[in-house]
Amino acid sequence: MIKKMKVFSLGLGLIGFALMAPQLVGAKAQGPCVDCHTMHNSQDGVAIVAAGPQGALVNRSGGCVGCHTGANSGGNIPYVFSTTATYGTNTLAGGNFRWVVAGDDTTGHNVVGLNSADLVLGETPPGWNPAFNANTELNGGGATWAVQLTCAGTNGCHGIHDDGGSVDDFTAISGSHHADDSAIDGSTAAKSFRFLYGIIGYEDSDWEYTNSATDHNQYYGYDRTNDTPPAALSEGAKSINYLCAECHGDFHSGAADDKGADTDNTAGSAWLRHPTDYDMNNLPGTEYSNYGTDGTYLPLVPVATNRTAALAAPVSDVNATAGDAIVNCISCHRAHGSPYADLLRWDYDTCEAGSDDPACGCFSCHTTKDAG
Ligand code: HEC
Ligand code: HEC
Ligand code: HEC
Ligand code: HEC
Ligand code: HEC
Repeated sequence: MIKKMKVFSLGLGLIGFALMAPQLVGAKAQGPCVDCHTMHNSQDGVAIVAAGPQGALVNRSGGCVGCHTGANSGGNIPYVFSTTATYGTNTLAGGNFRWVVAGDDTTGHNVVGLNSADLVLGETPPGWNPAFNANTELNGGGATWAVQLTCAGTNGCHGIHDDGGSVDDFTAISGSHHADDSAIDGSTAAKSFRFLYGIIGYEDSDWEYTNSATDHNQYYGYDRTNDTPPAALSEGAKSINYLCAECHGDFHSGAADDKGADTDNTAGSAWLRHPTDYDMNNLPGTEYSNYGTDGTYLPLVPVATNRTAALAAPVSDVNATAGDAIVNCISCHRAHGSPYADLLRWDYDTCEAGSDDPACGCFSCHTTKDAG
């Protein structure tokens, strides 16, 4: 027992923890309490966590990142930061903070505990629109942010954002790691897709460490027909795109200018911002009908479904059923980070029209813009 504690006091979460042997059935914490908690932050009169006691009595420093740091090898904890991560090999669906921590601010979200605020963007998210508060309110609804982005809470992505006041990381997701999350309905943080409060979806069991057309997260989207921000508890507020819109609303539908003078997305006018929450099955007989090559799901360029029935298992043929080919923020971006500017899934700088480049995901949907 004492030896175990010593391992943790030295580990500080900067290396993966060996005691987490793969034994997980469903995403619920397993193993001895002592692996993860310290009751008094003291053993033999010495602090377990030198930085002082932590939220929820967890036994390492660094907040959420304290446990979620390490090299993924298919085990039962998702690691989101490693100084040795290799993109697409041992990174997960959300990507990795490696590159932003290494100093390139454009390659990831600058999150407290990992690095300092983005030198160019500062603290306020680009496209911030406080009207996207259907899943509790971020940043107290204020017009600008005076604090840096956190993992969870009032100024973070995971968990609830507000309970009438402000909430910290551990309060925001309290109880989620021990909860039964076999039914994802968005009703609590634990029962939301990846503890993203209010958002639904199908959770791949290894966070896409392995992935294929039949082995992936199934994201939820909706097929919007106008530029009105979705209302609380509406299907639109459960979309993975709504998660991004909670901080970047104007890039979703908040500026009410997505489609020309005409806010009806079904009409023929040109887009003013790239569509999201829009089903490519609305465009039969166009280049989008050949998503990928024949409609087979590509984990690198994911599309969402608006059919809750399809959330029981991954969809593999996205053009077979209306609602299964919904464009996402994360069709192009990785939520945590990537090696590329704007946390994009591929290198946009080398995407060239009129050339064949299988690494450029734009061609996966814009199938006629290559050499053809
Ligand atoms: C003491 C270690 C520890 C700490 C601290 C910790 N986690 Fe976890 N986390 C785990 C383990 C183990 C799992 C996998 C089992 C599970 O899902 O509960 C996990 C899983 C997750 C998942 C995936 C859930 C899913 O549905 O697949 C998310 C998201 C997550 N943690 C977020 C957080 C956030 C946010 C914080 C900080 C508030 C945090 N974690 C702090 C150990 C930790
Ligand atoms: C809780 C708020 C929050 C949420 C949710 C959020 N972001 Fe951000 N995002 C920010 C902040 C703050 C910045 C500016 C500072 C930074 O780069 O970290 C930012 C910056 C960005 C950038 C520019 C990065 C750069 O440095 O150039 C991209 C791209 C981005 N976000 C995409 C997304 C996507 C995609 C999602 C959904 C998966 C998302 N964001 C969800 C807060 C958020
Ligand atoms: C694999 C890591 C892990 C193990 C093992 C673990 N916990 Fe936790 N526990 C966490 C994390 C992470 C949190 C904080 C985040 C949260 O609440 O989801 C937490 C939070 C809690 C909380 C506060 C939230 C709530 O559910 O009320 C209690 C109480 C708790 N744990 C008790 C226990 C007990 C008792 C054991 C052993 C029987 C145990 N834990 C074992 C990771 C673990
Ligand atoms: C078709 C691919 C694609 C989709 C879909 C997409 N983005 Fe982007 N995003 C980009 C590219 C490329 C850039 C680089 C800047 C540019 O070209 O405008 C970018 C830049 C950004 C930035 C940084 C802006 C800045 O000022 O630095 C943010 C934030 C962002 N996207 C958020 C989102 C959100 C939120 C969504 C969904 C509502 C989304 N993106 C959907 C491709 C996409
Ligand atoms: C997941 C599929 C998907 C991906 C990936 C994607 N697009 Fe799109 N894009 C669409 C759809 C669907 C439309 C809307 C077409 C329509 O309404 O006729 C669109 C619209 C556009 C438009 C405006 C067309 C118009 O009619 O107004 C441009 C320009 C564009 N995309 C460029 C890009 C670039 C550059 C990339 C790579 C960074 C990219 N797209 C990636 C699906 C995608």
